[in-house]
Amino acid sequence: MLQEKYYPNKEHIKNASIKSMDEYNELMNAAKEDYEGFWGKFANEKIDWIKPYDKVLDESEAPFYKWFIGGKLNVAYQCVDRHLKTKKNKAAIIFEGDNGDKRVLTYLELAYEVSRTANMFKNEFGIKKGDRVVLYMPMIPEAAISMLACAKIGAIHSVVFGGFSAEALRDRIVDAEAKLVVTSDGAFRKGSPYMLKPVVDEALSKDCECVKAVCVIERNGEDVNWVAGRDYSYNELIKSQSKYCESEAMDSEDPLFLLYTSGSTGKPKGVQHSTAGYILWAQMTMEWVFDMKDNDTYWCTADVGWITGHTYIVYGPLAAGATTIMFEGVPTFPDAGRCWKMVEEYRVNQFYTAPTAIRLLHKMGADEPKKYDLSSLRILGTVGEPIDPPAWKWYYEEIGRSKCAIVDTYWQTETGGHMISPLPFATPIKPACATFPLPGIMAEIIDENGNPTPIGEKGFMCITKPWPSMIRTIWNDGERFAKSYFGDCKKDGKPVYFTGDGAMIDEEGYMTITGRTDDVINVSGHRMGTAEVEAAIKKHPSVAANAVVGKPHPIKGEGIFAYVVLKGEDNFATEAETIKEINEIIKKEIGAIALCDDIVFVPDVPKTRSGKIMRRILRSIAKGEEITQDTSTLEDPTIVRKIEEIVRSCKL
Ligand code: PRX
Repeated sequence: MLQEKYYPNKEHIKNASIKSMDEYNELMNAAKEDYEGFWGKFANEKIDWIKPYDKVLDESEAPFYKWFIGGKLNVAYQCVDRHLKTKKNKAAIIFEGDNGDKRVLTYLELAYEVSRTANMFKNEFGIKKGDRVVLYMPMIPEAAISMLACAKIGAIHSVVFGGFSAEALRDRIVDAEAKLVVTSDGAFRKGSPYMLKPVVDEALSKDCECVKAVCVIERNGEDVNWVAGRDYSYNELIKSQSKYCESEAMDSEDPLFLLYTSGSTGKPKGVQHSTAGYILWAQMTMEWVFDMKDNDTYWCTADVGWITGHTYIVYGPLAAGATTIMFEGVPTFPDAGRCWKMVEEYRVNQFYTAPTAIRLLHKMGADEPKKYDLSSLRILGTVGEPIDPPAWKWYYEEIGRSKCAIVDTYWQTETGGHMISPLPFATPIKPACATFPLPGIMAEIIDENGNPTPIGEKGFMCITKPWPSMIRTIWNDGERFAKSYFGDCKKDGKPVYFTGDGAMIDEEGYMTITGRTDDVINVSGHRMGTAEVEAAIKKHPSVAANAVVGKPHPIKGEGIFAYVVLKGEDNFATEAETIKEINEIIKKEIGAIALCDDIVFVPDVPKTRSGKIMRRILRSIAKGEEITQDTSTLEDPTIVRKIEEIVRSCKL
């Protein structure tokens, strides 16, 4: 059945960066005809090279691709200093705190802050090119400043989301062998202070010898513990730093940052991004997908701890010379009209958020948008999870007033930037559909054998050619990188990148993402490995075995559903107590984002004779679906009915 289409708003086409599907097709054809020429042209146009590159793409060590070989550049220069010629007094970052406090940093002020911080990292902490710096930060300008300061001196940052626990933080610090941790006392959320520094203290309390110093920014003014010789005040040290700092000439392929994300095994992966390829695509997609114009004010509600915060709060907008809003608070405080109030106040032109937030704001404040003037909006974006048609419709009609383009942007930590997305004033949009690959991105939906899947059938979303902003490797684990993303499937003799997502193509070539095909669940747009949660649950002394799956959730997209087998002799524990204890452990090991929505105690989990847990069956039971899978290969086929009965009786 052909889906309804929404055509681009004519008012904005004239000035759009890509104006029609003909223009889109021209770009795509240019990429197909001369792939290196296509990317080389944009790299020449968009990047302020310190030294031009010699070669666009080196595929000789595939899948370890190299882009813009021989080139020298600096990402902080690209994002900040180069704009001083034309927009030194333009707002670069507009910050709004949880309590409504405001701060604006112009490009000139940002340049000085970045240089001061870079000098502090170098002079006070001895940070050099290639050193790793972990940032455990709230959403304050210093988070962006610290990222750019690292880029300025060639240090590799690894931002750890502030919701992760001390254990999770320690794992990431140790894996990256970070020398410096930058954090704050804490910040504000929903009108109250919360703390970050104590989490860092706990993370560093054991097995973290690599960390030589902790640099603490004052944000909420609460008392914190101070370790002499290790902890230093950012606010004090910054005072004596020079506001001028030379930008380190970085190689195109030098790592810009690591960002840890979940995979299908217990250990998070340090996704390593490059310098030139990453910043090029961050900037290009800002211009194509968000149609960034000089006078625009752009707001992405993500957290800097996730890739969306990296590419579409900090690097992309600043590389494009835009004004980017950073918001410390939550969209529902003091009420569900907060975002719309801010859109009105700052005259926001592009608003980018996750479907979970849209569902929540719809549920909590369906009429809130009506109270505000949202006429400045031109583009609405979504990211992180599939958006359902009712949420899409509310976003389109109530927020966009049926005049804005909705860009459903599909991408991943590993892709660095958008892969599949409508172009706001070119693509006829189908609701809840990511539509087409962006120009230059060779995405295909294929089956297990590498053949394109027929129309309307689910297949694997793959990218068949390397692209500049792709993951370069997993930090310290090239083997895992090659294995995780480039299975055995080849196209034209070259490895194919597997995203891990399922997708479908329709009769008009539109692509819809159907969700993960591996053991990764997506809770409120946050990616969670089932193995990570299982490893945490296993730490409870009464737990013999457990299996975790995702279950559809009306707001969060997916919730976490755990099947837990207790040890025989541990039946003394009451279920409610054990559930509480298990969730406490999860909170300690990973963080509150991984808390289980449902925990059921079962006599066993369904396993094949070779011991593999049949998660598909468990997913079906959690959803209350009829079991259609073949259960004859199970070690104990009767277990399925037993679990079904337990789940039914729990009325989950
Ligand atoms: O499953 C896809 C889903 O989010 C995963 C990537 O998660 P992460 O690396 O944390 O990055 C999130 C922000 C880019 C993908 O593998 N995903 C992302 N965007 C969409 C999506 N699923 C459906 N539609 C999207 N637009």
